[in-house]
Amino acid sequence: MVRLACKKVQKKVEEELKAKTDLLISKGNRAPSLAVIMVGDNGASRTYVKNKEDACTRLGFMHFDYRFSEDVREDELLNLIDELNKRNDVDGILVQLPLPKTIDEKKIINRIDPEKDVDGFSPINVGRLSLEEECFIPCTPKGILEILKYYNIETRGKKAVVIGRSNIVGKPMAMLLMQKGIDATVSVCNSHTKDLSSYTKDADIIIVATGKVNTLYSSMCKNDAVIIDVGVNRIADSTREKGFYLKGDVDYDSFADTDCQITPVPGGVGLMTVIELMENTYLSCVRRSGI
Ligand code: GUN
Repeated sequence: MVRLACKKVQKKVEEELKAKTDLLISKGNRAPSLAVIMVGDNGASRTYVKNKEDACTRLGFMHFDYRFSEDVREDELLNLIDELNKRNDVDGILVQLPLPKTIDEKKIINRIDPEKDVDGFSPINVGRLSLEEECFIPCTPKGILEILKYYNIETRGKKAVVIGRSNIVGKPMAMLLMQKGIDATVSVCNSHTKDLSSYTKDADIIIVATGKVNTLYSSMCKNDAVIIDVGVNRIADSTREKGFYLKGDVDYDSFADTDCQITPVPGGVGLMTVIELMENTYLSCVRRSGI
């Protein structure tokens, strides 16, 4: 088995982005800036948000952080988004998902100006992506393409299977893999798919994004498949300092004696999501300042 370590890929993207950002600032432009809105105190969300803020600090981006308790009213969030949409010194607006059930997630995302929607979740950006127009590409799928490129993994004419159809990963991933220039032949599976193995056994590239451990194991795959594990599952373990450890959606150990190439968890796709968010924020800054 070959481990597709993503730290190297993340480092390369970050170094290039830092150089571009430094150049932008040396030309007299202000630094790119990101507003992050988080509601409630979900442990995983807190970690993601901290990683985003740390990345802003490393790159010299400005960040504005807004924290709300679970009982925040929807109109408070909508008013804040309206204000951030108007502000010239904000390039990107990110609302950390999931939101509490009392809040209409669609309404919130819809309110973000598509030109500041660095997550690429608004209907305008989703539409632009499907039409292969300039848009903000959702960060996790964008990072996965970067991993494939870094490791010279051919996509043209290859059979790709995406397991999971979420708006954040599965759907945009499938859309990207079938785009002109990437040219894979894509199947999208979900929890109702009958005989998942009949799809995965044939696949050259498998993207697993179900949020369920052991969705994929070696006997379901060709001996030399490329496997991208998007899952980040917290497994309770009282012997660990934090009381849990992280495991992906793939039964990683079962691949030990195969020639498959697999992204690990942790140290895999998660690293790329954050740096691609920074890249999108930089792009927004450049587009908005007309450089
Ligand atoms: N929750 C899990 N992944 C993401 C993401 O990429 N963006 C946002 N906003 N929330 C998330």
